[in-house]
Amino acid sequence: METKVYALTGNPEEDREAISLAGQVIRSGQLAAIPTETVYGLAGDALNPGSASRIYEAKGRPSDNPLIVHIAEIQALEKIARDISPKALELARRFWPGPLTMIFPKKDVVPLETTGGLDTVAVRMPAHEAALGVIRAAGGYVAAPSANRSGRPSCTTAEHVLEDLNGKIGLILDGGPVGIGLESTIVDLTGRLPCLLRPGFISLKQLEEVLGEVETDPAVKGQLAPEQRPKAPGMKYRHYAPRGRLTVVSGTPEAVAGLVNRLTEEALSRGENPAVLASSETAGLYRCKNVLEVGSRARESEIAHSLFAMLRRADELEADPIFAEEFDTPQLGGAVMNRLMKAAGFHRIKASE
Ligand code: TXA
Ligand code: MG
Repeated sequence: METKVYALTGNPEEDREAISLAGQVIRSGQLAAIPTETVYGLAGDALNPGSASRIYEAKGRPSDNPLIVHIAEIQALEKIARDISPKALELARRFWPGPLTMIFPKKDVVPLETTGGLDTVAVRMPAHEAALGVIRAAGGYVAAPSANRSGRPSCTTAEHVLEDLNGKIGLILDGGPVGIGLESTIVDLTGRLPCLLRPGFISLKQLEEVLGEVETDPAVKGQLAPEQRPKAPGMKYRHYAPRGRLTVVSGTPEAVAGLVNRLTEEALSRGENPAVLASSETAGLYRCKNVLEVGSRARESEIAHSLFAMLRRADELEADPIFAEEFDTPQLGGAVMNRLMKAAGFHRIKASE
């Protein structure tokens, strides 16, 4: 299949044709990759079981890993979700459109193929004009996982989507680099207490302002016992991972640089091709020739924005091993470290003074 890329201008008038084409493609049961404010999504009709199967196939994703249903107005929630509490509506009013996904018991119109066999459904309204246009043009309910091949870092540009899905889907809408760069925050509202399943741009504190106490799923921190099942099935799969072995190194900047310099030099002497993921403040401390700068600690949105691109860059360089600093910045640090630790298979070492 030939994959066509349509560039969006950001002007709704000029983009109307491309958006309506994507809508038709989705209505007909096929797939289109679309930009959102978080990451690119691989969009199909959420109410068509065949579309869900096509999504799993194109991504190479296990079909027990449920999809997020994207809507374009709050009223659309009622048709697909049950037990929508006043607090859930308050969250929707406060954070939608935006990078928040809520999980509800599902209604029968949502096929089990879309929810990976679960009787719950994840729903979000993206804050992106073109995405909202496509959802409306597609009939109002669009299932869209991140548009990467399963296991790879999520796509923050249309080029990443093409890298992963060229020949597997018919259409990509290119809206340029996304705004946030990390997937939405996911909160499960089906239990006794609300539970954070994936940290993101909307923080735990912001959720608690509306919901009161919110639990955090142990899988978020990699603290799941082997016999426990994560609440978000996606959390059990190796994720975001570059091909090289990734290790997170914690400690003071000097101690981290000291240890990483020693480890990268040892790797070089074994004939390997090491790389380092560093902040702009500390990039100069490393002697390794492959230093991938993810951005400034003073502007943490920069780090969130370029993390996935830098993990992909490590693959382009065929880097192995890879060492990453910790990016435990105040607002987005939790979300960034969750992705980075998953990419590292939770492998972290401490550099002592
Ligand atoms: O920002 C985002 O959320 C992006 C953009 C495209 O909207 N989408 C995204 O989808 O990240 P995906 O499929 O890559 O990640 C969805 C996660 C998976 O870990 C999945 O297991 C979980 O949400 N999930 C979906 N439905 C669920 C459900 N009913 N119960 C528990 N977890 C669910
Ligand atoms: Mg994903």
